Amino acid sequence: MNYSGYAHIHTIGCQMNVYDSEKLGTVLNALGYQPTPDPEQADIIVCNTCAVRHKAEEKAFSFLGRFARDKQKKPHLITVMAGCVAQQEGNNAFQRLPHLDLVLGTQAFSRFSRHIEALKSGQRRITDTDPSDVIFEALPDDTAFAENPVSKFVTIMQGCDNFCTYCVVPYVRGRERSRPWQSIVEEIKVLADNGIREVTLLGQNVNSYGAKENSLSFAGLLEKVAAVDGIHRIRFATSHPKDLSEELIQAMAKLNKVCNHLHLPVQSGADRILKKMNRGYTRELYLSRIDALRSAIPDIGLSTDIIVGFPSETVSDFEDTMALVEQVGFDSIFAFAYSDRSFAPAARFSDPVDEAEKMARLNRLLAFQDTVTRKKNEQMTGRVLRVLVEGVSAKQHDGFVKTTPHTRQMTGRSETNKVVHFPSDTLTPGDLADVRIDNAYPHSLWGQPLEQMFQ
Ligand code: 5AD
Ligand code: SF4
Repeated sequence: MNYSGYAHIHTIGCQMNVYDSEKLGTVLNALGYQPTPDPEQADIIVCNTCAVRHKAEEKAFSFLGRFARDKQKKPHLITVMAGCVAQQEGNNAFQRLPHLDLVLGTQAFSRFSRHIEALKSGQRRITDTDPSDVIFEALPDDTAFAENPVSKFVTIMQGCDNFCTYCVVPYVRGRERSRPWQSIVEEIKVLADNGIREVTLLGQNVNSYGAKENSLSFAGLLEKVAAVDGIHRIRFATSHPKDLSEELIQAMAKLNKVCNHLHLPVQSGADRILKKMNRGYTRELYLSRIDALRSAIPDIGLSTDIIVGFPSETVSDFEDTMALVEQVGFDSIFAFAYSDRSFAPAARFSDPVDEAEKMARLNRLLAFQDTVTRKKNEQMTGRVLRVLVEGVSAKQHDGFVKTTPHTRQMTGRSETNKVVHFPSDTLTPGDLADVRIDNAYPHSLWGQPLEQMFQ
C-alpha cells in the first residue's frame, strides 16, 4: 500500500494521556501527518498507554499486536508504544511486539519528532525511557488531533511523590515537578484565542502544585488562570485529600470560573486499609474535608475513586467503604478491583482477596452508587443549570422532536460535570446557557434552554 500521510493515535487511560496524545499529534502534524480515525489507513500508529491497572496494560499490547501483519503488507508502517507501559517495559516491549518501532517513555515526548525522523531514515527498534526532568512544554496550539472543540486539558505538574502502595505512577512518571505558572498561563491564553472556553488543569496531585519549587500555590495558580480572558470555566484533577487546604477551598468558593465540582479520591473507607495504602489520611480526616467543602460551597458536586479488594481487605473493611460512600453521597464514583502492579509494593503484600470476591464487592458498590446517582440526577429536575455547550448530541431524543419545534439537539456539561442535552438552533459550541432540567436519566439530563448567556 502507498504512503498516505495519515497518523492514528489511540489513547488508553487517564486525562493526562488525552493531553499528551494531543501534544504527540501536534508533533506529527508538524511533520506533515494528518489524523485518521482508521488505523488501517495510517502510516504511523501510536498507542499512548496506561499502566495503572493490569487491564489497561493488556489493552495496549493487544491493540499494538494487531499491526504485526499489516507491517508485512506495508513495510513503511511505523508503530509506536508511548507513555506509562513504554516507560515500564523499555526494551522488553519488543519481546511481545517484535514489529514495534519505537518505545517512547513518559519523559521522552520532547524527543518524539527526532525519533520519528530516525525511523523514517531506516533505523528500527528505538527505545527512549530516559528520565529527563523536562516537562513536555506547550507547543504551538494545533487542533488537528483535538477531541473537544471547547474544552482542553492542560498539564501543570508531572510525576508523583506520594507512593501509594498500590500505584505504579511514581515509578513510571517519576518524581513530582510543577510547570512554571507563566508557561501554563501562556498556553491557556493561546487556547482561549483559539476558541477554548474550559480548561482542566492536570496533575497527579494538583493540591501540592508549586510546593517543592516553593513557588505559587495551587490556589494562586487558579487566580492567574481565572484572569485569562475568554476562559469561562476551570476544572482540575486530581486532588489528594491529605493536601486539600483551606486556602484552596476558599479559592474555589471565591472564583466564579472555578467549577463547583471536586474529584477527591478516597480509595477506601477503612482506616486499616488506608494505612496499608500509605494514603496519609484517616476516614475521619476525609469526612472533615468533605464537610469543609460543603459548608464553603453548598451545591458542590463530588466524585471519587475507590479500590476494592486491596490485599487483606476484609468484609468489614469493605462495609466501611460502603458506609462512607453512603454517608458522603457522591455524584459519581470510579471504582476498580485491585490489581497487582509489579513495581508497586502492594504486589508483594500477603493475603490477597479472591478474584470472584473482588468482583462481587465491586458489583455491589457500583449497583449501590447507581441508585445514588439516579436519585441525585432526579433531584436536578426543575432546577436551572448553567451549561457550557460542547456540540450536537450524538444521540437523538424522541421527546424533543414531539415537544419542540427545534430539530437540533445540543449537548454540554453542567458545572458539576453532568451531561445535559437540550434543543436549540441558535446555541453553538462555547456558549454558556441556562438550561431548565425536565428529565433525568442515569447518565444524562435533558432540558430546555432559558436564554443564551454570553459567548
Ligand atoms: N489496582 C486497582 N486500581 C488502581 N488504581 C491505581 N492503582 C490501582 C491498582 N493497582 C486506581 C485508583 C486511582 C485510579 C486512577 O486508579 O483508584 O485513583
Ligand atoms: Fe498514585 Fe497515590 Fe500518586 Fe495518585 S497520589 S498517582 S494514587 S501514588
